[in-house]
Amino acid sequence: MRILLVADIHANWPALRAIEEPFDACLVLGDLVDYALEPTPCIDWVRRKATHAVRGNHDHGVAQQVRVQGKNGFKYLTGVTRQVTQERISSDDRRFLGALPVTKRVSLDGVKFLMVHATPRDPLDEYSIADVDFWSRRLADVDAHVICVGHTHHPYILEVGDKLVINPGSVGQPRDSDPRASYAIIENQRVELKRIEYAVEETVTSVLQSALPEPAKALLAEVFRTGSLAKPDSSRVKSEPPTTTIPNSAAS
Ligand SMILES: [Fe+2]
Repeated sequence: MRILLVADIHANWPALRAIEEPFDACLVLGDLVDYALEPTPCIDWVRRKATHAVRGNHDHGVAQQVRVQGKNGFKYLTGVTRQVTQERISSDDRRFLGALPVTKRVSLDGVKFLMVHATPRDPLDEYSIADVDFWSRRLADVDAHVICVGHTHHPYILEVGDKLVINPGSVGQPRDSDPRASYAIIENQRVELKRIEYAVEETVTSVLQSALPEPAKALLAEVFRTGSLAKPDSSRVKSEPPTTTIPNSAAS
């Protein structure tokens, strides 16, 4: 079985449509919306293709019509792009986002997966670094072989005892200084983090042609083109090897 793992699409349709991997199951780890400005085709893709999906903090904020007022950085970008998101999505799509579960357990090919956008302790908001101690404290009571997360926009694979934590990175807004769309493939117990070039300038053009404030346009263009904002990101996690195998899973 070939499993496609995607997270943090953030309404970046050129990035999402660039992922043309064949798959038997597709797991979506939340944050379909905000930042880029094409939420509808992204939500439609998830509705058609996702075998299972969970809600991210941005999906929750859009569904609950939460207004964000940040003065700088990603909080600022959330506030200004959320207004556009709200104008562009249908009420049916908003309901879809709000109905997504915050955690989901699935069993595929004899492997038990836990899907959650952030962490099992705080499914929507906790920022999870690629650290064994951090994850050991959060997985002691978790009955799963593989924990699939998103939220940080930094891909990693981490062995934590007999469990594996996989963060496929962000499809639509990578923040690890590599602007290519990030995702993961699991096949035959082997996990591979993958990157693919996409039409970044198409995404940037849709931002520049929008009614967003000029500072927001500039920041978004920078993050889409470079995979980071100029301000040093001290929370950046270190890179892990791009492939590994699932330890001690029930599958043969
Ligand atoms: Fe996100």
